[in-house]
Amino acid sequence: MIVSTVILAAGQGTRMRSSLPKVLHCLAGKPFIEYSLLAAESLGGETPIVVVGHGADAVRSYVGERARFAVQVRQHGTAHALLTAEPLLAGQSDLVVVISADMPLLISSTLRKLVEIQTANPGPMTMLTVLSKDSHGFGHVVRSEDGSVKAIVEEAVATPEQLAIEELNAGVYCFSAQWLWPALHRIKVSPTGEYYLTDTVGLAAKKGLRVEALTLSDSEEAIGINTRQHLAEAEAILRKRINTAWMLEGVTIIDPNTTYIGPDVRIGKDCIIYPGTHLSGTCEIGEECTLGPNAILTDTRVGSLCQIGASVLEGAVAEDRVKIGPFCHLLPGAYLAAGVALGNHVEIANSYLAPGVQVPHFSFIGDTTVGENVTIEAGAVVCNYESQFDQPAEIGSESVIGAGTMIVSPVKIGDGIYTHAGTIVEADVPSEIPPAASPNPLEGSQEESE
Ligand code: UD1
Ligand code: CA
Repeated sequence: MIVSTVILAAGQGTRMRSSLPKVLHCLAGKPFIEYSLLAAESLGGETPIVVVGHGADAVRSYVGERARFAVQVRQHGTAHALLTAEPLLAGQSDLVVVISADMPLLISSTLRKLVEIQTANPGPMTMLTVLSKDSHGFGHVVRSEDGSVKAIVEEAVATPEQLAIEELNAGVYCFSAQWLWPALHRIKVSPTGEYYLTDTVGLAAKKGLRVEALTLSDSEEAIGINTRQHLAEAEAILRKRINTAWMLEGVTIIDPNTTYIGPDVRIGKDCIIYPGTHLSGTCEIGEECTLGPNAILTDTRVGSLCQIGASVLEGAVAEDRVKIGPFCHLLPGAYLAAGVALGNHVEIANSYLAPGVQVPHFSFIGDTTVGENVTIEAGAVVCNYESQFDQPAEIGSESVIGAGTMIVSPVKIGDGIYTHAGTIVEADVPSEIPPAASPNPLEGSQEESE
């Protein structure tokens, strides 16, 4: 069985009142067409087709190689939109699944069920329906005595009895390809001037062909996004799904209503996430960390057993047992090795801090390599910006940079150096050679005994 999926995304989305194409508005940090693409990809069939029209270039450039495109220059309705995919698909597949890009909460297992039902259906199509008292402008589903679907009636043309029907068309279908393409050509223009894809149901029923329906148990899946209010509702549902999944995986979320976790984030077990925390992009968190309250992490990797207070981390790495914050800012390229501790108001940009480094109070460190166990005291700053370029600095291991020291890059400070409070370091400082160690009697006796 070859299955092709068509994602309808040519509509204008007028009610979003936006210059951005509707499907590029973000949901949990990603343009929401992403979720339709993922659902289509999960069917494992041919590369999906996206029907583009309004904002076609922008949609294409987001989707890229993940789909093939059909262009609907003027939007004459959903049947007309699907017809634009005919040249790409006719004769190429057995089943055609049609979804709308404005239904991002649809889950892949529902699509798989739809395909299963259609595979067993002797008739030409299976559709997805939802039960709801509030019709949301959806088409109403008319069933015949044998339970098959007889017609879908759009709000615009429905009678009062039809408007009272609580079973609604979700706008997701699986068609027999062989039947679909000729049928689309037979659809007549509706009183509203559009070609309705929903009229396929009437065409089939009139010929005595069976139209099956799968009714959603979770009506949230069918939420269609037409306004920014719908977008916020969908966002809340998606966040809840994500948070629930992480709680089931062993993550404690103190207040799921104020915790924002992106779809591509990974979190180890026994982490505790306090309110106001945002984890977005490709964040990866190890086990047994505490995050927040109000920690904001983007594209950041954190090891295990870390504690991150109210701080902003962007494109940073922290190995195991790192403590950060509150009120620190890590910028891209900040790399904190195991056991590093940052206190409050510390900014780190594009710098490597070796194991055991401590920066307890308000410092800036940029473009710097800091050796093991260095302590950088209150108010010490790396002055890395000179002549329009960021200049590098090095601080050797076991050094102590005194309070208020200004390290003027480019400069190298050796190992074991202590700078006095308020020092301005403008020239390289060679390593302090430690006094010859007095022989350790214990080590000596061990050697003898070996
Ligand atoms: C459609 C269904 C309705 C169903 C509802 C569920 C029809 C006639 N009606 O109505 O029964 O309850 O979905 O959400 O199909 N599009 C195009 N080109 C067009 C028109 C639409 O690509 O010319 C795309 C839109 O971008 C959107 C999808 O098709 O992704 C659905 O179109 P929309 O206008 O939102 O249809 P509804 O009025 O919601
Ligand atoms: Ca819609």
